[in-house]
Formats: sequence, structure tokens, C-alpha cells
Amino acid sequence: MSLPMVVPEDGLPARVRIHEVGARDGLQNEKATVPTEVKAEFVHRLAEAGLTTIEATSFVHPKWVPQLADAETLFPLLSDLPAGIALPVLVPNTRGLERALALGADRVAVFASASESFAKANLNRTLDEALGMFEPVVTRAKQEEVHVRGYVSMCFGDPWEGAVPIAQVVRVCTALRDMGCDELSLGDTIGVATPGNVTSLLGELTRQGVPIATLGVHFHDTYGQALANTYAALRHGVTTVDASAGGLGGCPYAKSATGNLATEDLVWMLQGLGIETGVDLGRLTATSVWMAGQLGRPSPSRTVRALSHQE
Ligand code: HMG
Ligand code: MG
Repeated sequence: MSLPMVVPEDGLPARVRIHEVGARDGLQNEKATVPTEVKAEFVHRLAEAGLTTIEATSFVHPKWVPQLADAETLFPLLSDLPAGIALPVLVPNTRGLERALALGADRVAVFASASESFAKANLNRTLDEALGMFEPVVTRAKQEEVHVRGYVSMCFGDPWEGAVPIAQVVRVCTALRDMGCDELSLGDTIGVATPGNVTSLLGELTRQGVPIATLGVHFHDTYGQALANTYAALRHGVTTVDASAGGLGGCPYAKSATGNLATEDLVWMLQGLGIETGVDLGRLTATSVWMAGQLGRPSPSRTVRALSHQE
């Protein structure tokens, strides 16, 4: 079978926007740095497979993430993509934002943490110092009419601190919204959440007045829970789901982070539920098989493996 049987369910969204993070979250975690031309081809192939939001790279300190140090060379290679393809980039501070604006980026993401330990490991700042670093970034981006996503990492568990209190996540989400972030992405950076955690957090955020339409979910698949957690989020009305082609991903500053939810696994489930994504699963799988060849190891995505073994 190359397509799932379609059996829609009541109470689920008609359409989901996939925020593809393979070229950023995936490639930032590769031991070997992928050549810039290969990254550019990867993004083009993802667009041809029907993905319309493709996180392209990060304008972070090149010493912190050497894998993405070619952002200035890569981004212009994507300028021929159709206007309907959004290419968000990560920016940690005003220096990163200025680099991105100089190249014409019109969607950026700041990345906060719900835990102190990860703020320190990932941004060399306390949680409040990190929020203080983002404030002028968001203000300036909004002046330039740039769309801003606010990531919140470690929303459920943290490798150093254990369970992260929901109140702490809500505090960071509220701070990012007050700054002017247009959307938030709730990160399970180390993949420890189970569906009940997701339902509780979304319930509390909506009770605190955060519109569900502004919330995306970002699940890493360390314990194989990413798809179950996504289903719980869909049940709660979430319509933006982050995923990474072929299941690439991780975070170099959180040792227990493994790959993201694989986009193919997500699309298989969504198609089975009759939910629109605009993604051509065959083309996407072919892209991940090609990328696995470039990286020299098979894709961890179950769907990629199942579909490619049939050919
Ligand atoms: P720092 O060492 O504290 O930097 O790093 P600083 O502010 O003290 O500045 C030191 C020097 O770096 C200065 O240069 C700055 O100009 C320069 P000098 O004046 O000494 O010559 N500098 C920069 N250069 C280029 N681009 C920049 C930049 N910023 C400063 N943007 C910093 C602080 C935030 C820069 C650093 O910690 C950093 O780059 N961290 C990025 C870490 C990262 O990218 N992690 C992965 C992404 S997050 C993630 O994967 C999670 C997510 O997927 C969601 C989830 O799964 O939960 C999003
Ligand atoms: Mg991530």
C-alpha cells in the first residue's frame, strides 16, 4: 500500500499546516556539515512535495551551531522559490535578526525555554535574560512587518530538572505573546511527553486566554510518542504541527533530544483521517530517501522505510 485507507473522524480539523523543520532542526544536529548546495536542493524538493512552511536555517552564532554557519550563502539560493512558500529562520538576538533582515527574511523565530537549565545551555542566559534578549528582536521584527514565531522548549520535561511545571510554561508563553509573537510552538525537546501532558498543557493555555489558532506543537520522538501526542493536540483543536522530513532532528545542546516527528509519519496519519495537508507523500518520501543517501544512513521514519521498501 502506498496510501493509507481514509476514515475521517469527527472533532478533528479539516486541514493542518505542517511547519517543516528538517532543514533547520534536522541538519543542525548532523555530525557532518551538509554542503550548502545539498541543503538548497533539500528545501526545493520539500517545496515541490507540497510543503509551504519550510524552516530554512538559523542566524545563530556560527561557533554554537557550525552546521548552519552557511546561512548567508544558503538563504539567497532559496530566492527562486514561489512567493507562497514561507521560509522562517531562527534568530536568537538582534545580531541574528539584522543578519536575517539583510537577506530579506520575512518570517523569524525566537527560541525561549521553559526551564532555566536549557536557557543556560542553549542561549548562555537565564530564562529572564533570554526573554530580555528577545524583546527588542520581536519589537524590531514587528516594525518591519516580519512574522514572529516564539518557540518554547522543554514544555514537558527537561534533562536536568525533570518535570517542568505547567505554570512555568504558561509564564514563558505569556511573556512571548505580550512581546508580540504571532504564534508559539510548544516544544517537547527531549520527547518525554505523553498525550495526557499535551491535553493538560493545551487546556491550561486555552484557559489562560491563549487562542488555539496561535499554538503549534513541536514533538521530538525519543520515546515514540510524537504521533500520539500530535493526535492529542489535534483533538484539542491545534492545526499547526512541526515535523521533520525523514525524522531528522535533535538539539546539540540537549543530549537526550533525538529526531523530530517524521513528516511522512504525520502525513500518513493525517491522510488516513482525511485531513488536508497539501503534501504529496510519494514525493516527500523520495526526498527523504535522497537525503538519507546524502547523509549516509537510512531514515528513522517508519513510513519512509515502509514506502521505500515497496519500490
Ligand atoms: P554568547 O556566547 O552569550 O554571545 O551566545 P554574546 O551575546 O556574548 O556575543 C558574543 C559574540 O558573538 C559577539 O561577538 C557577538 O557579536 C557574536 P564579538 O563582539 O565578541 O566579536 N554574536 C553573533 N554572531 C553572529 N550571529 C549571531 C550572534 N550573536 C552574537 N546571532 C547566543 C549567545 C544566543 C549567540 C548563542 O548562545 C547561540 O547562538 N545559541 C544558539 C543555540 C542554538 O541555535 N540551538 C539550537 C536551536 S534551539 C532548538 O533546537 C529547539 C527547538 O527546535 C524547539 C525544541 O525542540 O524545543 C527550536
Ligand atoms: Mg526541536
